Amino acid sequence: MKIARFSRIGFILAAAGSAVGLGNIWKFPYITGENGGGAFVLVYLLAVIFIGFSIMLSEMFIGYLAKSDTVTSFEKLAPKNKNLWKYAGFQALTGLFIMTFYSVVIGWIFHYVVTSLVALPASVEEAETVFTTLLTSDAWTQLFYHTLSFIFITYIVTKGIKGGIEKLNMILMPLLMLILFGMFAYATTLEAFSQAVDFMFVADWSKITSESFVSAIGHAFFTLSLGMGAIMTYSASLKKESNLVNNALWVIFLDTTIAIVAGLMLFTFLYQYGSVPAKGPGLVFISLPAVFYEMGVIGNIFAIIFFISLAFAGLTSSVSIVEPMVQYLISRFNYARVKASIVVGLLFYLVGAVALFSNIDTFKEFLTIGSRNIFDWLDYITASILLPLGGLIMAVFVGFVIEKQRIESIMKPQLGFAFEIWYFSLRYVTPIAMFIVMLSLMGVL
Ligand code: TRP
Repeated sequence: MKIARFSRIGFILAAAGSAVGLGNIWKFPYITGENGGGAFVLVYLLAVIFIGFSIMLSEMFIGYLAKSDTVTSFEKLAPKNKNLWKYAGFQALTGLFIMTFYSVVIGWIFHYVVTSLVALPASVEEAETVFTTLLTSDAWTQLFYHTLSFIFITYIVTKGIKGGIEKLNMILMPLLMLILFGMFAYATTLEAFSQAVDFMFVADWSKITSESFVSAIGHAFFTLSLGMGAIMTYSASLKKESNLVNNALWVIFLDTTIAIVAGLMLFTFLYQYGSVPAKGPGLVFISLPAVFYEMGVIGNIFAIIFFISLAFAGLTSSVSIVEPMVQYLISRFNYARVKASIVVGLLFYLVGAVALFSNIDTFKEFLTIGSRNIFDWLDYITASILLPLGGLIMAVFVGFVIEKQRIESIMKPQLGFAFEIWYFSLRYVTPIAMFIVMLSLMGVL
């Protein structure tokens, strides 16, 4: 069977599509807000360069070299202890867990597209009620949109790498950029723009704590879609002559630019209409709709296209979150692609539905284990444990397990003198940083 390979631009857009997600547009602005702006942005950029880049390159390298699913890749490349290393392929499962609640959140965004069409909340208080009601008592609306999200994502994945994933990204990514850059251009004409620039780029070190470092590193890692084999699985479909360094730099550049552009734009709107950046997770779902309302007609249009672009960002990430598991079923169990996609789709759909009900007041009690409900557990286990663990394993695998000569022969021509720096970082810097981040996110430190 001839394997479909990404075109060069198709790969970059698909990997950037995976990276650019809710993390860039929803999370980056609010954690920047919480951590005082400029200094945090600087720490984040350093984390992207020193940690994000080195892990991304390792993931790409593993995928490119092994050309297989996550489990088989580790098995193939480990010189000894293959039976042990194949368990590193658990990463494919991490995607399945993430997808359960990611699909529910995409559902909220779909709902907000419709809300923006109908009527925006007129004040922050009203916006808060709208959001809280949706989350804690409107199970049917959430379920409806979660179902749409499941159908759409599963459908695209059934179409495969070329006809589904590449095509989706070739269409949605340019549209996403067009919308964000268009809104950004408008933001630059507002008075508050310079205030947003100051906030984002002037460092106030007094706000930086050790926790800021952890969240900067954790976020750099999350936003680049690392630690669960998504980039690895995509890289298995790279052409032989691909330049991994070049691809990685493009993906990182697009991801970072989009996060900064989205941040500057949102802060400008918030400042211009009398709000402040430090708004926490409710920034996009609560503060922003109220600000759009204040802006009048243009705000209405912005609200609609903004939530559409957010949905695009989420969907292009989603296909990469499920693909590793789909690929695993195809290559290890000989499933047809359609069957594999539907099995994976149904699994995340059903568990996602349970997670969704665990936020609803009437069911909460039965769907809470210890200190967290199911929704929060899924989020916690993936973001705080499995993803950093995946990154740690990837760095150790490339840094210590695969033979150095083998890595050198492919990566040295691409990296030049930077090869030794990368290799050193994989061995000694990245694993330690990931370990600390993991313990700290888990609340052990
Ligand atoms: N990078 C995505 C975002 O910024 C989310 C994400 C985290 C992700 N890990 C992933 C996406 C793994 C795909 C695969 O929202």
